[in-house]
Amino acid sequence: MNYYTAPMEGLTDRIWRQVHQKWFGAAGAPARYYAPFLSPPENRILIKKKMAELEDAGNAGVPVVPQVLAKDGELAGWFIGEVRKLGCTEVNLNFGCPSGTVTAKGKGAGMLRDPAKLDAFLDAVFSAVEGPVSVKTRLGVQSAEEFGAILAVYNQYPICELTIHPRVMKQLYRGEADRAAFARYLADCQMPVCYNGDITTPEALHGLEAQFPTLSGIMVGRGLIGDPALLRRAQGGPPASKEELRGYVDDLYRAYTAAFGMPSCAVSRMKAHWFYLLPHFAGAAALEKPLRKAREGWEYETVVGQIFAGR
Ligand SMILES: Cc1cc2nc3c(=O)[nH]c(=O)nc-3n(C[C@H](O)[C@H](O)[C@H](O)COP(=O)(O)O)c2cc1C
Repeated sequence: MNYYTAPMEGLTDRIWRQVHQKWFGAAGAPARYYAPFLSPPENRILIKKKMAELEDAGNAGVPVVPQVLAKDGELAGWFIGEVRKLGCTEVNLNFGCPSGTVTAKGKGAGMLRDPAKLDAFLDAVFSAVEGPVSVKTRLGVQSAEEFGAILAVYNQYPICELTIHPRVMKQLYRGEADRAAFARYLADCQMPVCYNGDITTPEALHGLEAQFPTLSGIMVGRGLIGDPALLRRAQGGPPASKEELRGYVDDLYRAYTAAFGMPSCAVSRMKAHWFYLLPHFAGAAALEKPLRKAREGWEYETVVGQIFAGR
């Protein structure tokens, strides 16, 4: 079974991928890191800073899979060609993002509204590109019943792997992933299938593998941000030690500070990580508010010192 890390904007960026690999990559590396989505520029002029996010795509070691968010198939096909020049092989298409600003433009999960448009998009992409293209999808917009028609479209194309996050667009991240609906559709998928959604423990990961032995992969997102050693534990390794976690968060903070040029921007990025990390620190709930209120580097560093002092 392949384990993958989910693309998460604001969390699984290049800096995080490098730091995660450094601290938890030896025995707990994912088979692939999926990078957060990039949108192709309509004027076809690449933005250097955005493309630099994929600098690790051609690295030796764990492959990085870029993700493309688009609704124009020709433009997406061109962009996939550009992205491939950075050294990656697989490229992933995003039909899952539920954010209102994305779906209002008909992108992300908004692509699931109209299977005919989805078909035209995929036709344009697969006519233009060579090499592996995977898809990450939700089950529909309003109801899981929509997935029958959506899957009929996917089944017409040589999608190298279909990652299904069994929620619908209108759910955002509320409620639970609909594993019953996932199970209903799995046998009809004509390509390798990866499951994604609500996996936060090694036991849950193994339970899913036992329930769906035909899966090609399982993708974890928030669970791995909360416990960066989750995949190592799932492969029989030890949990993260206090020293490892300290090294991991300090490396992240230092690298974000260097990249953004000032600690306050790094603090804001680190808070996104701590949102998932903090519940794993026993007795640290009282520090949630001070952490949330921290603006300056010194404020953040003080609270993080207190969090680790209590662990
Ligand atoms: C903050 C945040 C950012 C995300 N960014 C992306 C993204 O760029 N591309 C994508 O396909 N999914 C994105 N997702 C969805 C995740 O990849 C994943 O499908 C979702 O979190 C469910 O998996 P999990 O329960 O293991 O976290 C994002 C989710 C969150 C919470």
